[in-house]
Amino acid sequence: MGEPLKLAVLVSGRGSNLAALIHAVSAGSCHARIVAVIADRRSAPALDLAREHGLPTYVVAAKDYVERPQWDEALAAQLAEVSPELVVLAGFMRLVGNAVLARFAGRIVNVHPALLPAFPGLDAPAQAIAARVCLSGCTVHVVDAGVDTGPILAQAAVPLLPTDDAATLHARIQKAEHALLPAVVHAVARGTIVLGAVPRYAGTFPSQLPSLVSPPVI
Ligand code: GRF
Repeated sequence: MGEPLKLAVLVSGRGSNLAALIHAVSAGSCHARIVAVIADRRSAPALDLAREHGLPTYVVAAKDYVERPQWDEALAAQLAEVSPELVVLAGFMRLVGNAVLARFAGRIVNVHPALLPAFPGLDAPAQAIAARVCLSGCTVHVVDAGVDTGPILAQAAVPLLPTDDAATLHARIQKAEHALLPAVVHAVARGTIVLGAVPRYAGTFPSQLPSLVSPPVI
């Protein structure tokens, strides 16, 4: 199958998607190698998770830089040093800037807790609750200069239940994320998804996904 795909995973928070990637890589269901876990804050719990698994960690803290473009340049330089083939934003709570986008154009993916283009930006599960939709889910997409606007690679749907609040919905969405994100990375590694200005599917990637729509509960 060739060499595993070299990943840099960018994190800000808990790191449950990082955990899912680590698990899928070690289980052999995601043909990738995590060469770096990079956080924008020293307090990110995901850093501890990465260290527990012996992964190289780096912090490029936004608060260490007066101007945002300087932080973006530093992040681009750190990424260039670890030289990933794919950059995965897994709960990275900042927009990457032009320096990162220019160096890794079309090779950055993000996981978002909604069915884009619905509910981009912050607090997507709360947005879904407020809109009283019946179905939400998660999206893995290529990152461009907009807020959650890049080409969509894959989505998984989950139902909203009448008793849901943003936290219970987000927890259900995250279960879907933990299957979808490693599946997409694996598809990129295998060449089933070909990234570029316009990503294209070689083969039958969408139909190879596990069934990710939870049964409705009435
Ligand atoms: C995920 O729900 C992801 O969709 C969003 O941020 C959350 C990160 O969760 N972008 P975790 O840190 O991976 O647990």
